[in-house]
Amino acid sequence: MLTGIGSWLPERVVTNDQLSQVLDTSDEWIRTRTGISQRFHAATGESTSDLAVEAGRRALKSAGDDHVDALILATTTPDYPCPATAPDIAARLGLSGIAAFDIAAVCTGFVYALSAAAGLIAAGTAERVMVIGADVYSTILNPVDRSTAVIFGDAAGAVVLRAGRPDELGALGPMVLGSDGENHRLIEIPGGGARQRSNGQPSEPDDEYFRMAGPEVFRHAIVRMSEAASRAMELARWLPGDVDRFAAHQANARILTSVLERVGLPATCQLSNVARVGNTSAASIPLLLDECAADGRLEAGQGVLLSAFGGGLTWGATTLRWPALTTVH
Ligand code: COA
Repeated sequence: MLTGIGSWLPERVVTNDQLSQVLDTSDEWIRTRTGISQRFHAATGESTSDLAVEAGRRALKSAGDDHVDALILATTTPDYPCPATAPDIAARLGLSGIAAFDIAAVCTGFVYALSAAAGLIAAGTAERVMVIGADVYSTILNPVDRSTAVIFGDAAGAVVLRAGRPDELGALGPMVLGSDGENHRLIEIPGGGARQRSNGQPSEPDDEYFRMAGPEVFRHAIVRMSEAASRAMELARWLPGDVDRFAAHQANARILTSVLERVGLPATCQLSNVARVGNTSAASIPLLLDECAADGRLEAGQGVLLSAFGGGLTWGATTLRWPALTTVH
């Protein structure tokens, strides 16, 4: 069950008008096509682990814990291709010695990591687990690609889970996870991995950047996120009336509206911060939950439906009844 939450945004705000000065785009286009007004970018030299440590510190404080038995980081932007970034984060949080590993499921990473954490707890391997979603997309975006540069922002969000009873507030419901590898090239960084290296050829400069087939991804995101959300409700035996709040991955405001309609939920359920932070990939859902818990949009006892979609393609969803949490801001 969920016992602590925290998040962290870098200081630098990048507005649509600022992007319009360097790209062939406009504030009007970005707001109407994506719902995004601004996003945050890490400072030069600031990396995923730096944001993750700040979010993790706040989640530990929120949980009133100074120890967990395992730490899972969901990210697409690890500090290095090798080793995983989670052990360094654990050490910097004073948790050296615990199990620590990364999960790569792009924007679905947080939900995949939640499920892995719940599994470690259910198996008795760990009593308390920290899950962090953190991404610094500003380091992998092609600065001249207007179709991706306007969408993504940097952030970290973290939660602490502990063993508990299914009827307690904060207990996670059944997990829905899925993937469609036939479409793995719709979201990709083509260079820098074993596929490119095994050719013995250096990658082209643009191959190191994130690429996305926007309109196709848009269609898959709507179908997969709504199907996963509906399935999670079915497995939890929830009807639409049991959902007080819907925390979907903040990809694009138009995607969020379509998913909400397909799942059959009223607009009052929708939690969103995409206008202020953009798509923050693995950080998206924990950052949203933390902000909403802090400003009162989420209250103890409310039924919360989570759903995410990302590269892979991957998707995942679950339910939980929101616990009484202290937030740290
Ligand atoms: N500014 C101005 N024009 C832009 C633009 C930008 N930032 N980005 C694309 N365009 C242009 C395109 O070049 C195209 O021009 P054309 O008609 O002359 O060829 C036109 O706008 C429409 O492009 P299209 O890609 O069809 O727009 P869209 O409405 O699908 O919006 C995305 C593009 C990327 C915003 C949208 O597809 C999207 O949000 N996709 C999903 C993204 C996502 O959530 N990914 C992560 C999933 S985890």
